[in-house]
Amino acid sequence: MEHESVWLATADRPEHPPIEGRLSVDVVVIGAGITGLTTALLAQQSGAQVAVVEARQVGSGTSGGTTGKVTSQHGLIYADLVERHGFDQARRYAEANQAGLERVATLVGELELDCGFTRAPAFVYTRSDDLAHRVAAEAQRAAALGLPARLGRDTGLPFEVPAAVRFDEQAHVHAGRYLLGLAKAFTDAGGQLFERSRVTDIDDIGDSAVEVTAEGHAVRAEHCVVATLLPLGVTAGCFARTTPVRSYGLAVRLRGDAPTAMTISADSPTYSTRPWPDAGPNGLIVVGQGHDVGADLDTTGQYAALERWARATFDVEDVDYRWSAQDYTTTDGLPYVGRAPLHHRVLLATGYAKWGLTNGTAAAMMLTDLLAERESAWLPAFDVGRIGDVASVIETAKANLANSAHLLADRSHDAPRCTHLGCRLHWNTAETSWDCPCHGSRFTDRGEVIEGPAVRPLDLP
Ligand SMILES: Cc1cc2nc3c(=O)[nH]c(=O)nc-3n(C[C@H](O)[C@H](O)[C@H](O)COP(=O)(O)OP(=O)(O)OC[C@H]3O[C@@H](n4cnc5c(N)ncnc54)[C@H](O)[C@@H]3O)c2cc1C
Ligand code: FES
Repeated sequence: MEHESVWLATADRPEHPPIEGRLSVDVVVIGAGITGLTTALLAQQSGAQVAVVEARQVGSGTSGGTTGKVTSQHGLIYADLVERHGFDQARRYAEANQAGLERVATLVGELELDCGFTRAPAFVYTRSDDLAHRVAAEAQRAAALGLPARLGRDTGLPFEVPAAVRFDEQAHVHAGRYLLGLAKAFTDAGGQLFERSRVTDIDDIGDSAVEVTAEGHAVRAEHCVVATLLPLGVTAGCFARTTPVRSYGLAVRLRGDAPTAMTISADSPTYSTRPWPDAGPNGLIVVGQGHDVGADLDTTGQYAALERWARATFDVEDVDYRWSAQDYTTTDGLPYVGRAPLHHRVLLATGYAKWGLTNGTAAAMMLTDLLAERESAWLPAFDVGRIGDVASVIETAKANLANSAHLLADRSHDAPRCTHLGCRLHWNTAETSWDCPCHGSRFTDRGEVIEGPAVRPLDLP
């Protein structure tokens, strides 16, 4: 079994050069995941000169570790969004994500991307009678918001479900080939893409420009788009308003045909499936066993538990790949997209709650509208500066209190401290990395930054 994302292991990944010298462009984008690459491509296509600066390689972040579902169905969320934020805000989120799905379809067609983009229905189901009423409410709310939703229990899974919501005309994709296709289209259009170049600083240059520094080199631009999953450092204080969550994935071959639909359970723990066409009709992707980053648990057990579920549910012949990845949730269930408060030349997008293929594409559409000074009807739902409702303020306060405990953790403890804000790190046995429970930074066993808001390596003895 390979310990690598199936999407990265099975895509051709050409190298791009590291950044060198001083550059001047219209827009500098930090991060080459779905958000950064889509924003860069759309901005370059609309006439701006764009440079992308990536710390590792195209798709090395969470976008390369997804389940690869391109869908506006995001679990059971729409009834909650309407209740919490009102119908109009929920409608903006729904429309943005349905448009994100259709924009992916359009880009695949226009750019002739060979990335396995396949239309399929998506189901969110429960196996518990107790949740059936929530599933019914979700179907009703999602349909009222204009989404292609209805009740339907024909999931194709090898068990009966008491209730499920079916979204029609959704899609799945080979995430690696899609991202690399975007990257190629971007450079073919004249964009500059730098890899292995970690940005450490973003500085306003008066009112008229912004400069980013990576590996001692610099890019000056009129605008900077921070597309680093969670904004690096302390940009816009997003680290204090989000929670990092990891999940585990397997690419498996069954002895018979795999379900052709995409499915996700509303029950806890969550399990998500979709076809894996590269392995033929028997191929299946299974994702689940989510937990907070840096949680005090043996993470190898998470792979074992996921495989146990897969084998108990399907007739699994082989497990070919396994990997894990993380994403950030906001306290009020809506992502942050737009200008960073107090830095009007810095734009950002984060907090997709594991639904960034549509959210990230929609964010790119909103960010390119902002760059071109066009109106965007969806932006009010994604306001970066919002504090949130009472429930989210309480949740934020609780999370920050828990983080203070990690910060004040026993100084004689031998685990190193995070270079972001100093929390005590936890050893991740499955990925052999140091993971931060506060805001999700991760480091190799030699102390190099893997991901997160941290930008500087650990000071290991
Ligand atoms: C297990 C799992 C399954 C998922 N499945 C789905 C799914 O099926 N459908 C869906 O819609 N969403 C899914 N998601 C969510 C989705 O993958 C993410 O929301 C999305 O990929 C985030 O994209 P991004 O471009 O914002 O971030 P990323 O893809 O993480 O890209 C950020 C990039 O920025 C780079 N970077 C970071 N810091 C710096 C720095 N200082 N300097 C330069 N570069 C930097 C990183 O190396 C990275 O390449 C899933 C998430 C997980 C964890
Ligand atoms: S990620 Fe913020 S303290 Fe570690």
